Amino acid sequence: MEPIKVGIIGFGRSGCSIHASGIEKMQDRFTICAICDEIPERRTHASFPNAKQYATAEELLADKEVELVVVATYNYSHAKYAIMALDAGKHVLCEKPFGYRTDDVDAMIEAAKRNNRILQPFQQRRYEEDFQKVLEICKSGVLGKIKYVRISWPGFSRRWDWQTSRAFGGGQLYNNGPHLVDHGMELFGTEEEPEVCAFLRNSLSSGDAEDEFNITLHGKNSPQVELIISATNAFPQDRWPICGTAGTLHGGTSKLEWKYVDWSKYPERPLDTVPLEGRKYCSEKLEFITETWEPEGAADSGAGAAPAPKPVKKLYDTLFEAIRNGKPQEITPADIRRRIAVMQKAYEQNNIPFPSEK
Ligand SMILES: NC(=O)c1ccc[n+]([C@@H]2O[C@H](COP(=O)([O-])OP(=O)(O)OC[C@H]3O[C@@H](n4cnc5c(N)ncnc54)[C@H](O)[C@@H]3O)[C@@H](O)[C@H]2O)c1
Repeated sequence: MEPIKVGIIGFGRSGCSIHASGIEKMQDRFTICAICDEIPERRTHASFPNAKQYATAEELLADKEVELVVVATYNYSHAKYAIMALDAGKHVLCEKPFGYRTDDVDAMIEAAKRNNRILQPFQQRRYEEDFQKVLEICKSGVLGKIKYVRISWPGFSRRWDWQTSRAFGGGQLYNNGPHLVDHGMELFGTEEEPEVCAFLRNSLSSGDAEDEFNITLHGKNSPQVELIISATNAFPQDRWPICGTAGTLHGGTSKLEWKYVDWSKYPERPLDTVPLEGRKYCSEKLEFITETWEPEGAADSGAGAAPAPKPVKKLYDTLFEAIRNGKPQEITPADIRRRIAVMQKAYEQNNIPFPSEK
C-alpha cells in the first residue's frame, strides 16, 4: 500500500522531534514530502532529503502531493490551519491543544465533514503504557467502583519560552494539560459531563501564563478526579493514586502496585448504633491481594520528558488504518471536544481571557 504523503507545518520540538522522528521509523506507511517553517534553517530533515521546503502554510497547503497535514505550530494557529488544510482537501493530524474552545472544535469537525477528510487529534499520551494498564485494572473491577482519582505531574523547573506566554496560547493547561485532562476524562467516564473546579497560577515561569494548576472534576455518579501539575514541587510523587470501593492503586510510569479485598469473603456489616461492646472501635482484619506491574524494558514515558516513541507509533498506526482502510478512529474529535470543554471552563472560572488566533 502507498505510504501516506505528509506535510508538516511547524518543524520544532513537535514537528521535527516527535512527528518526523516517528515517521522516520514507519516509512512503509508514511513519508514526509513537504516541510513548512517560518525559520529557513528548520525546513530540512536528513531522512527526507527530497521533502519540499515552504515558508508559509498556504504554500504547503497548495501542494497537491500532500495528503496528510500535521499542524505543529504555536497553539494560537491550530484550529485555523486545521480548517484551512481540511478545506484544501487534506487529512489533518492536529497537535494539542485541539483548539481553545469547543467552538473551535465544532468548526474543525464541520470542516472535516464538509470535505469528507479525517481530522485526528494528536493525543498520543492516551497510549502510554502505564495509563493503558491503569485503564485495564480499573475496567477489570478488582478495585470496585472507582471513587477518587488523582493524577499528579510534579516538577520544579522554570520555563521562559513561548509556552509561558498567553498571547501564544501557552500555559500549562494548554501545554501538558491536554494529556492530564485526557487521562482524567477517560477515568471520569462518559455517563455525565463533569463539574469543574479549577485553580491556575503562575509561580516560576517568565511569561504571563499559568505554570501550575489544580483542577477537580466532579459528577453525581462518576469518580472525583483531581489533576495537578506543579512547577514548584521538587519531590517525586506517585502519578496515580486511584481509590475504589474494593482497593487502591498507586505508582507511575515505571511501576504500578494495587491491592484489593474480596468483599464476598466478609460478613455483611449493617449499621449498628448500639455502643460497641467493651468500648471498642470498629475493627476487622482485611486480607489484601497485592499485584504489581512494570513495563517491559525501560519506562516509555514520563512527565516533562521528551514524548515517548511507542505511543506516537500507536497513534500513527490507528491514523493509517483510518485513512487507508476506513477503520473508525480510536481517539475522535468529539471525544477531545469534551476535554476542551473542561479546559475552557477552567480558564473561564479563573477569568483568564482566551488569546486570539493569529
Ligand atoms: N503532543 C505532545 O506531546 C507535544 C509535545 C511538544 C509540543 N507539542 C505541541 O506542538 C506545538 C509546537 O510546539 P513545539 O514545542 O514544537 O514548539 P517549537 O517552538 O519548538 O516549534 C514551533 C515551530 O513552528 C514554527 N511556526 C510557528 N508558526 C508557524 C507558521 N505560521 N508557519 C510556519 N511555521 C510556523 C516555528 O518557527 C517553530 O519552528 C504546540 O502546539 C505544542 O503544544 C505537543
